[in-house]
Amino acid sequence: MGSELLFRGARIVDPASERDAIGDVRVRDGAIAEVDDRLDAGPAEVFDCDGLVVAPGLVDLHTHLREPGAEHKETIETGTRAAAVGGYTAVAPMANTEPVADDASVIAEVVAAAGKARLADVFPAGAVTKGLEGESLAEIGEMVDAGVRIFSDDGRCVPTARTIRNALTYARAFDDVTIAEHCEDVSLSIGHQMHEGLTSASLGLAGQPGAAEHAIVYRDLEIARLTGGRLHLCHLSSARSVELVRQARSDGVRVTAEVTPHHLILTDEDLAGYDTNRKVNPPLRSAEDRAALRVGLADGTIDAIATDHAPHAVEEKDAEFDRAPFGTIGLETALAVVLTELVEPGMITLPRAIEAMSTTPARILGARAHGGPIEPGRPANLVVFDPAERWTVEAPFASRSRNSAFLGREVRGRVRYTVLHGELTVAEGKATR
Ligand code: NCD
Ligand code: ZN
Repeated sequence: MGSELLFRGARIVDPASERDAIGDVRVRDGAIAEVDDRLDAGPAEVFDCDGLVVAPGLVDLHTHLREPGAEHKETIETGTRAAAVGGYTAVAPMANTEPVADDASVIAEVVAAAGKARLADVFPAGAVTKGLEGESLAEIGEMVDAGVRIFSDDGRCVPTARTIRNALTYARAFDDVTIAEHCEDVSLSIGHQMHEGLTSASLGLAGQPGAAEHAIVYRDLEIARLTGGRLHLCHLSSARSVELVRQARSDGVRVTAEVTPHHLILTDEDLAGYDTNRKVNPPLRSAEDRAALRVGLADGTIDAIATDHAPHAVEEKDAEFDRAPFGTIGLETALAVVLTELVEPGMITLPRAIEAMSTTPARILGARAHGGPIEPGRPANLVVFDPAERWTVEAPFASRSRNSAFLGREVRGRVRYTVLHGELTVAEGKATR
């Protein structure tokens, strides 16, 4: 606080105010002070942003920070540093930690550690069921009182319609509480290593069909319809899931959905080299599934892009394919791969990408200080990036892990500055703390 920053001559892309124009942004005392065509420098530190984009800081609806319990994979500090380097100012860490975040004490611990690191705001997800066991509901009321707005057993699917009904009914009592589902019918996916299809057959790996996901999508949409509770669907991967959401939405069901960069960009055929960093859950699916996800993102059926940043240690991923854990890191590459693979080829516009990575996830999370609008008086949570800078995805990462599905890929678009409540968490592409 106290310092004054002036970002000069950037393309300001701010879906919340529908601004997409060149201008200057002044940041003072933690807030946006002025936005205009041309501002006087005054006492501010000036950043020449010719050719750069200024946007609201990115917001991730689906992050695994692993603390407490698996600090060898990631900690709240290293994970939020990875977030900052990737242009994120807010993340929602999932509850599948050890212990599980199923009561207010674990939530408080996560919030306190993030507050100490000051690298990103965290909005922890609370568990839906105690211990993620799928039996009795977690201490949802207590966690709501502690500020939690999103609940998920992510990593696991809520096993019965009855339990998801109870959770959505409970959520209905609070206007702004969302239940986020990891859609997976484990009776169809048990033992799976990848998507079921020609590729799994030729690679000799056990597959799970898209129906393992969309059967649960269908179930949960029906329960959302029944209860009126707010449902969010995590990391959608199958074409049928998109179609079901489109239909339910048009019927007025309160549902939002996310997709990951890896499901938007890769397919099951990218597992031909048995790269365990591409072993993820839900699995990379067919080219037809990927095409439907892209259309769904472009037309707004899928609301948000979420990373599902899932760090695992080198020695865990450096195993036989069928023994390696599921997950890829994503915070440091999401913006670049979306710009390179979706925006540049014209599948989505840059404002749509920012909306899906910031404006909309902030709204779903109830993260009012994030997602724009970039207007005077608003908290200064911003990302400044160079859409043209080329780089190759490779270690070292700010994350404690390096299990990226995109290792070795050439991308365009790099974060230069991230501003969290008026302070630089990233300057010249490097974390400042
Ligand atoms: C996640 C993890 O490692 O916690 N892994 C993954 O492949 N997505 C769990 C999850 O998000 O389902
Ligand atoms: Zn999941």
